[in-house]
Amino acid sequence: MNPPKITTDTLRAMKTRGEKIAALTAYDFPMTRLLDEAGIPLILVGDSLGMVVLGYPDTTHVTMADMEHHVRAAARAHPRALLAADMPFRSYETVKSAVENAKRLVAAGAEAVKAEGGRAITEQVRAIIGAGIPFCGHLGMLPQHVHEEGGYHIKGKIEPEHQSLLADADALVAAGVFAIVLELVTPPVAREITRHISVPTIGIGAGSDCDGQILVTPDLLGMLPWYNLKHVKPRLNAAEQIKAAVKDWSENVGRGALTNTR
Ligand code: KIV
Repeated sequence: MNPPKITTDTLRAMKTRGEKIAALTAYDFPMTRLLDEAGIPLILVGDSLGMVVLGYPDTTHVTMADMEHHVRAAARAHPRALLAADMPFRSYETVKSAVENAKRLVAAGAEAVKAEGGRAITEQVRAIIGAGIPFCGHLGMLPQHVHEEGGYHIKGKIEPEHQSLLADADALVAAGVFAIVLELVTPPVAREITRHISVPTIGIGAGSDCDGQILVTPDLLGMLPWYNLKHVKPRLNAAEQIKAAVKDWSENVGRGALTNTR
C-alpha cells in the first residue's frame, strides 16, 4: 500500500509530535521525483529558481511565467510530498493580484503557495486562504527585498526586529498559514517563535531549534561551487563529480573509445 499523501495537517501533526520536517527545493520533474522517493515531505518550487537555474542575479527577476513553467514540470512527478510554490516578486502586491496569481500556481500544479512578509501582506494571505489555497509564510531575511535591504542580513539581532518578527509571526498564524519559513533569523529568536506559535517553523540559516529545515537543493548537493554559504554543508560535491564525468567521457570520445555503453 502506498503511504498517504502529505498534507498541511501532516506537517502540523509532525510539529505536535516533535518530529522534524526536512524540506527541500526542486524546480523540475527528476529532482522532485528523487526528493519524493527519498521521503522529503515538503518540496518547494522556490523562486531561488532565479539564481540556481535561470542565472538571474537575485529572485526579483523571476516572473509568474517562470514559476508556472517550473511548477508544471515539478508537478508532473506527482509527489507524495506537499508541493508548494513561491509567489514571485510583485505577484501579490494587491489582494486581487495575489489571489489571481496564487490560483495560476495552483492551476500549474502547486498544492500550496508561499510569499514573503508578515503584517504587510496579511490581507493578501487571508484572501488566498479564503480561496482555498494553503499558504506558507516567510519571515526574516526576505530575498525579494534584497535591493531595499542592501544585501542578505541576519534578522532579530536588535530588539525592534525581534518584536517585529514576533508580531509578524502572530499575524500570519491569525491569518491561517500552515507553516512559516524563518530565513536568516537569529537562533534564539527562531527558537522563541517556534515555541510561541502553533504552526511549524521551517528554518534556513536560523539555527537548529525550528520545527524543520529547508535548503536550496543545489546548495545541499554542491552543485554551485561559485557560492560559499555559511548555513549549508554540502553533502555531495556534484559540481566536481559532473565535471570529472564529462571530462572522462570527452577524453574517451577524443581517443575514439566509446565506453559510455552499459
Ligand atoms: O526560494 C527559495 O528557495 C526559498 C527557500 C530558500 C526557503 O524561499
